[in-house]
Order: sequence, then structure tokens, then C-alpha cells
Amino acid sequence: MRLDRFVSRAAGVSRSQARALIRCGRVAVAGSIVSDAGRALAAAEVVELDGRPIALPQATYLMMNKPVGLLSARHDDYQATVLSLLPASLASRVHIVGRLDKQTSGLLLLSGDGRWSHRISSPRHNCPKRYQVELAEDLTADAEDRLAAGILLRGEPAATRPARIQRLAPNRVQITVTEGRYHLVRRLFAALGNRVVFLHREAVGGLSLDPNLGSGQWRVLSDQERVAVLEPPASASPKKA
Ligand code: URA
Repeated sequence: MRLDRFVSRAAGVSRSQARALIRCGRVAVAGSIVSDAGRALAAAEVVELDGRPIALPQATYLMMNKPVGLLSARHDDYQATVLSLLPASLASRVHIVGRLDKQTSGLLLLSGDGRWSHRISSPRHNCPKRYQVELAEDLTADAEDRLAAGILLRGEPAATRPARIQRLAPNRVQITVTEGRYHLVRRLFAALGNRVVFLHREAVGGLSLDPNLGSGQWRVLSDQERVAVLEPPASASPKKA
């Protein structure tokens, strides 16, 4: 990271204020005053402002058991959003990582770390998301094959990526998808001539919703959980010989 960006974030000042601090000789790196605002910092180098070490603020990582009925949005003029469940001081430090529909419940991630969120949401990373679904009608025999083959949804240029199904009951399944298209799960089952009546996200990557979190509750992720999200779920890992 460039020195001026680091000082700006660590000291909570604008980029131009950070450059002014550096120009005035108030910033030291590894014990020496540095005047080059564009100097690249190595990870272990200590930066000091007026002789005191400064550090980047720790990003926040949360999981929430999203209740049905709240919008996955920062703000809405008419409807309550998931951020209303957090204290204001925390809500201002996070963004929503992969939205859920108003009528969908379950695992919602919130974070202040844009890179981490990008690894989860970017289509390039194929992060699997597992949902439990209740359907209006029993699932037809060929549904699994059609979902595995990919379905061309109305108005879309490309078929969906393969989705995996685990049947729990004639009208209840777990589905794992690796895309974040708008209303994807509801539209997949609609394309099969069915209708989703209950949709609940159970897992993202290798992280499952904490069963101790009641609807509307949230908690901070542990360091291990923060890493687990970026890994494949245990059941999707290649089997050892
Ligand atoms: N697919 C949907 O249709 N809705 C969601 O909230 C998530 C995935």
C-alpha cells in the first residue's frame, strides 16, 4: 500500500491531508522520516505519526441470521433494512456481502473489508452458496439433471452454472449455486414450472449459519470463520484416497 493511503486510513484523515503530514516531515517509516507520499510500504514496516505508531483500523466481519421482511440495503425511505438491526456505530462500518431478497432468510454476511467481500461476491471466484428451499409442488424427476446442466433463464444471454440438488422431501431440497444472479433460486425453480415458498440461506463457502443465532441476531466472525468463507465447504472438498 502507498504511504499516503496508509496514513489517510490509519489516521482517519483525507488523502490530501495525509500528503501534507508527510510533506511536513511528521511521518516516519521504520524509524526514518519519509517525504515520498507514494512510497510503497512492506507489510511489517512500522509507520509513525509525530513519533507514535499508527495502524490500519481492524475491519469488521459479521454474520447475521436475516429475518424475512427486511431489505438487504443500506437505506430505504419506506422499508426497514437489515442494517437497522445493528448499532449505528457498527452499521456505518460495514456493507452487505451478497444480498438476500426481502422474503429470504438466513446467513447474511456484512463486512468493512472490500477485498474480502469481492472474493465472496465476484462471479470469478465461484463461491458456493447453499439454500434450503420449500417448493409449492413436488420436484419433478428430471429437475436435478436440468439444474445440473444449466438453465437459460428468460432475458439472459447465458445459461446458469450447474446447480447441485440434495432432496430432503418430495417438495423440500437443498440447492447449491455458485452465482449471485438476481432472484436466482426463485427463477431457477420458476423455470422448472415450480414456485419457491420458503428460501433460507444455510451456508456461504465453508461457513454455515450459526444455529445459535435466532432470527434477526448477529455476531462477529472469528478469524477462522473469516477464512472458512473463502474455502470450499467440507462436503465439496476432494475426497482423500
Ligand atoms: N436466490 C433468490 O432467488 N433469492 C435470494 O435471496 C437468494 C438467492
